[in-house]
Amino acid sequence: MLELSRRNLMIGGAGLLGAGLLMSKPDDKSGPRDPYFLRLQAALTEAGIASPTLVIDKARLDANIDTLMGHLPAGMAYRIVAKSLPSLDLIAHVRQRSGSDRLMTFNQPMLTALSKAMPEADQLLGKPLPVVAARNYFASLSSEDAPAAARVQWLIDTPDRLRQYRELAAATGQTLRVNLELDVGLHRGGLEAGDTLKTLLETLRDAPEFNFSGFMGYEPHLAALPEAMGWRDRAKSGAWRRYGEALAQAAQVLGAEAVSGLVRNAAGSPTYRYYQDTEVANEISAGSCLVKPTHFDTPLLEPHQPASFIATPVIKSLAQTRLPGLEFAADGQRAWDPNTSRTVFIYGGNWLAEPVDPPGLSYNKTFGRSSNQEMLTGGHNLAIAPDEFVFLRPHQSEAVFLQFGDIAVYEDGHITQRWPVFEASA
Ligand SMILES: Cc1ncc(COP(=O)(O)O)c(C=O)c1O
Repeated sequence: MLELSRRNLMIGGAGLLGAGLLMSKPDDKSGPRDPYFLRLQAALTEAGIASPTLVIDKARLDANIDTLMGHLPAGMAYRIVAKSLPSLDLIAHVRQRSGSDRLMTFNQPMLTALSKAMPEADQLLGKPLPVVAARNYFASLSSEDAPAAARVQWLIDTPDRLRQYRELAAATGQTLRVNLELDVGLHRGGLEAGDTLKTLLETLRDAPEFNFSGFMGYEPHLAALPEAMGWRDRAKSGAWRRYGEALAQAAQVLGAEAVSGLVRNAAGSPTYRYYQDTEVANEISAGSCLVKPTHFDTPLLEPHQPASFIATPVIKSLAQTRLPGLEFAADGQRAWDPNTSRTVFIYGGNWLAEPVDPPGLSYNKTFGRSSNQEMLTGGHNLAIAPDEFVFLRPHQSEAVFLQFGDIAVYEDGHITQRWPVFEASA
């Protein structure tokens, strides 16, 4: 007969606990490098690149553009989100391959740059700009830029802003195209059907300073909502109902015919595939899914491929991780988590990005982040020498792409072009 003693229980308990801990002990995630990144590394070396660089894989970019265009239903137009593709050459390439001449722009310097470089494009503001920024835009143009300025759709969200823009129009002698921002459930401001929208529509109908161009209703929250118990579907039909109510109100004020010619903008990368017909929206805007940073790793965007990487040289590659003042703990830490065994210090760092190659690299919480020489630790099989490249995937494109100077374009095994980026500007 088994006799349970307090001592046995304690030993057994400790054993179980040990087993439990062993079960969650991290596996060594290091291993051989991905041949894709080794080829990319060879191209960077051949091009004489030796500092942190943003690389775009052109074949993958093109495949993403084709994927996007292939998903659009008949009659649906595509608007290129300039802030997520922040380079004139990149936008020009997307325009050429997609055949779209519609841009969505988010700040005055970008608006000016695009007006000068692509005067024939239609630019819809993606956020309402302070009227002073709009005034600065007109001041930045010369008389030959006038046709480009006439193609801008100014986004308006409140009666106050419409009044300010009316004064600007009167002062500059410009007729302004106005697009109204709708709140279709994101609750980032904007209008809903009701008295305020009616008054704005009447002003837009009657004021000679304005041409009403359409609506913009952005709904990225839909992709973030759980699908369980119809939650996301309800939010989706709620968004489309709100959009429909605004259109119905516009039809009452302006007449059905005027409404049929309006721009009805919606969506972003995470939601563009929800639009299977042109019942609600007649154009979708998207940018990020063409370069696919990690924030866009969603089930709906699975057909899109990561096409942008940060490549940065290794400065130092150390066979053993040592932390300042904690040298005594190194063996214990390595024994517990093999992914802390080896260390590389990279050129630069502290970007909004995840290391992807060599496999198994991670930031070191104890050492912390660095913009100068960032520490990354990896497992026993981490094998990378100084001057070889570590590759990271940006979390997002709009800010990260601006941190590296000209984009390196990778095509057919070589760096074939450099694409300057916009100046950093909010
Ligand atoms: C109004 C608006 N539309 C669309 C987008 C979609 O951009 P992306 O496709 O890069 O997510 C954004 C992004 O912030 C936005 O603000």
